[in-house]
Amino acid sequence: MQSQNIYLLTTYYTAVDTSTTYMGLPLRTPIIVGSCGLTNNLEDLLRIERSGAGAVVLKSVFEEEIIFDIKRNTHITAPVENYGESYEYIASHVVIDSMQRHLDLIKNAKRNLSIPVIGSINCFSHDTWINYAKHFEDAGCDALELNMAILPYETTLSADDVERLYNNIVRHVKQSLTIPFSVKIGPYFTDMAKFVSQLSWSGIDGITMFNKSMKIDIDIDEMTMKSASCLSNEDSLYDTLRWVSILAKKLKCQISASGGVHKPEDVIKLLLAGAGSVQVVSCLYKYGVNYIETLNSGLSEWMAKKGYDKIDDFRGKMSIPTSEKASIAMRTQFMRYFAEIK
Ligand SMILES: Cc1cc2nc3c(=O)[nH]c(=O)nc-3n(C[C@H](O)[C@H](O)[C@H](O)COP(=O)(O)O)c2cc1C
Repeated sequence: MQSQNIYLLTTYYTAVDTSTTYMGLPLRTPIIVGSCGLTNNLEDLLRIERSGAGAVVLKSVFEEEIIFDIKRNTHITAPVENYGESYEYIASHVVIDSMQRHLDLIKNAKRNLSIPVIGSINCFSHDTWINYAKHFEDAGCDALELNMAILPYETTLSADDVERLYNNIVRHVKQSLTIPFSVKIGPYFTDMAKFVSQLSWSGIDGITMFNKSMKIDIDIDEMTMKSASCLSNEDSLYDTLRWVSILAKKLKCQISASGGVHKPEDVIKLLLAGAGSVQVVSCLYKYGVNYIETLNSGLSEWMAKKGYDKIDDFRGKMSIPTSEKASIAMRTQFMRYFAEIK
């Protein structure tokens, strides 16, 4: 019985073409391993490639690490006043030459992998780190993902201030890179649809939706702040799905959907909603890197069952058409749901 299943899977797998492109990069499958601890060393990266991922996003470097490196290597007094405690933290924890090690990881990954390697910088300010992005390109990254973690925690910061900062950073990074780059954003904006739409026209090549905000917890014995588990659960999918289906047809660039993918069906749903690619992280922590094979074969099997030969045959079939108002479509869903509950 088991060998029959394998035979069927193999049949489906070879019958359909799961290749696609994201940010102009050729992917053998739309499933990308998102930035995380599993993408921070060559050994895991090789396992990820062997398990069938379409591309990898390397673990992010913090902009504070870059500033630390600039300061250490040039003896220039790079402005650190923006950073305060976060800079002190990096300065006391960073491994000397951590940036050089990271650039070496990029070079090694490029030498040993055939799938695209996407670098990642976690940033929140418009500062000297931006010039450093070029080193990622020179080390051989195929693209760069900017994880823009600008959080509106200050009582003096307006939505306009936050959005202006995103646009400034994007404009300057664009000037210093020739490789494609994407922006990874969180799920909280005052005017998500308008903001993301404008961002998509600003010269970026992709938008990763969404970054996961850290869950803050308090240790009541130690009286310290701590973070709760950073793995997503299956419910996290629905916010991603909602926004991908609303925005996919309205943007100038593709969306890489990230957040809440735990089953092969989730990959299929996000592609139906219009995602250009789908990033996975938490499910690999839960089930192991080989789980990429399960996700890929689930996708192929479904495509074969439905008679789709390639991804573009069904991508975006369930996204909200440009002609339709998303607010009305969502309200109708909402009314239908509550009307039918007894
Ligand atoms: C252990 C762990 C480490 C992560 N590190 C990064 C990181 O360095 N940079 C980044 O942009 N996102 C990071 N993320 C967020 C993931 O890339 C992803 O956006 C998020 O986990 C949502 O996807 P998921 O539901 O598949 O986990 C990390 C997530 C986890 C669980």
